[in-house]
Amino acid sequence: MEKRYARESRCYKTSRVFPPDVNNHNTLFGGKLMAYIDDIASIAATKHCRRSVVTASTDSVDFLHPIRPTDAVSLESFVTWTGKTSIEVFVKVIKEDLLSGERKIAATSFLTFVSLNDNRTPIPVPSVVPETEEEMKLYETASRRAEARRVRRKESREFADFLIVNPPWE
Ligand SMILES: CC(C)(COP(=O)(O)OP(=O)(O)OC[C@H]1O[C@@H](n2cnc3c(N)ncnc32)[C@H](O)[C@@H]1OP(=O)(O)O)[C@@H](O)C(=O)NCCC(=O)NCCS
Repeated sequence: MEKRYARESRCYKTSRVFPPDVNNHNTLFGGKLMAYIDDIASIAATKHCRRSVVTASTDSVDFLHPIRPTDAVSLESFVTWTGKTSIEVFVKVIKEDLLSGERKIAATSFLTFVSLNDNRTPIPVPSVVPETEEEMKLYETASRRAEARRVRRKESREFADFLIVNPPWE
């Protein structure tokens, strides 16, 4: 099976924080950051397999520090692990105070994408080769995260079977 280096999928994006992007605390709206994360992660996943991908899940988005209008928000994403048809992508969010230059990790996230063929059926993906210390650490710890996802997916399906679908106003 084909292999790709983690670096081949790496993407970066830097943005300012403008008034329409903030919440009532005058910090970057969480939903806006989540959209940035899904966007950049889907590019990394697509660069890895060079096919269409869909987001299967987002493990969590851990908001570690608020991002303010005086900050630049930078995202980095790369593929950390692959299953048969699934691709795990890590996203690191760095905020930089543009006046002081201080940088902090503002958020991190792992997302899973599935590669699809033209009939929208999952299709095998190339495996990934980690090189840097960060890439190797994330690669080595990935099977644990994949197992947690497998359990959570089963629970989500059972929970969905239990939920009603009729809107309460009907
Ligand atoms: C993701 C999706 C394509 C999986 O299809 P499926 O028929 O259930 O496929 P499978 O059960 O064979 O799973 C395919 C792979 O996806 C992985 N997968 C499926 N759901 C997952 C989830 N919730 N989290 C993590 N991995 C998941 C499986 O582990 C499997 O990985 P592997 O091949 O590497 O072992 C399908 O559930 C889907 O289309 N979901 C909606 C996606 C979407 O609309 N995303 C946009 C969000 S708005």
